[in-house]
Amino acid sequence: MDLKQLSGKRILITGGLGFIGSNLSHRLVQHGADVRIFDAKLDPYGWNETNIREIRSQVELIVADVRDEAALERALQGCDLVYHLAAQVGREISMEDPELDTAINCNGTLNLCRILSRIDHPVKVVYAGSRGQIGEPVYLPVDEEHPTLPTDVYGINKLCAEKYLLLFGRVNGFPAVSLRLNNVYGPRCQMHHGFYGILNWFIRNAMADQPITVYGDGLQTRDYVYIDDVVDGFVRAGLMPQTDNQIYFIGSGTETVFLDMVREVISAVGQGSFVHVPFPPQRENIDIRKFVVTTEKFRRDTGWTPQTDLAEGVRRTVTFYRQRLDDYLAKEGAPA
Ligand SMILES: NC(=O)c1ccc[n+]([C@@H]2O[C@H](COP(=O)([O-])OP(=O)(O)OC[C@H]3O[C@@H](n4cnc5c(N)ncnc54)[C@H](O)[C@@H]3O)[C@@H](O)[C@H]2O)c1
Repeated sequence: MDLKQLSGKRILITGGLGFIGSNLSHRLVQHGADVRIFDAKLDPYGWNETNIREIRSQVELIVADVRDEAALERALQGCDLVYHLAAQVGREISMEDPELDTAINCNGTLNLCRILSRIDHPVKVVYAGSRGQIGEPVYLPVDEEHPTLPTDVYGINKLCAEKYLLLFGRVNGFPAVSLRLNNVYGPRCQMHHGFYGILNWFIRNAMADQPITVYGDGLQTRDYVYIDDVVDGFVRAGLMPQTDNQIYFIGSGTETVFLDMVREVISAVGQGSFVHVPFPPQRENIDIRKFVVTTEKFRRDTGWTPQTDLAEGVRRTVTFYRQRLDDYLAKEGAPA
């Protein structure tokens, strides 16, 4: 992959003020791309202008909503590539307010599909899919052929949006690729609540010496992947034509027991404790017992491999928040 291709490339990132989008923005700016961020600054999501503080003068920021097709169309003018990360990301929120989830995650993506279909040259779209599209696995490790049986509205709509992009791309001639992400953690994730980004939330708990709450026995498993590896995957997917019209899993490929992740956090922070509590019913009904993916397909097509194991990734994340926690207890760019 030739990173020089990024120099001068006009790239739109929806959801670019959030955790993954801002880290991606940093990497793209570092390689000379012309980055435009499109973000509605919606709460309780992870937007924070502190996420782009170091690159603020090098990116264009458009505060607007993917549900506003005209605004999205204006933002896409002149772009060569779009990363579509803006989303309603709360699984429980999606169950309480399915209309909101559908409006942002499905209809917002349909707006993007219509706009990309109208542009007279192919603009590639890289979509942030989710492990939530799978539901409870029927075999492990999960691969791209695994059936999709989501356990919540978020998973259904993330799947639906992925299908819209691949369908409209095929019919109307723009390349689309979906990266189905596992549990991503690392610097610049919101630290306000544990609805999602749970590993980061536990780092905050441990730093404040507040007990970490473990639902149930804590023996459920997950695939935790460090943000820099995810960003590397997004860069490759954006630049490499062999990913056109494909679906991939992005993860570490390592199945980690939830309690072992908690112990890793406590060890890296150097303090903290955990308590077991019963699952709240609204969470238990949508929870998944075991999860890990194989990333063989993405490795084969792009040469990508995850570089950072859990111990190292947690250590780096703790180092970041030791310097920046106060920035993440506030929200830079919030209305006064
Ligand atoms: N973080 C993970 O572990 C993970 C796992 C699987 C998939 N994903 C996907 O990755 C993407 C980014 O997630 P993240 O972890 O960075 O979340 P985040 O909450 O940090 O960022 C999401 C951003 O999207 C913006 N946004 C929300 N609705 C919008 C709208 N209607 N219009 C414009 N902007 C809007 C928010 O303001 C926020 O800045 C999402 O699509 C999510 O589904 C994340």
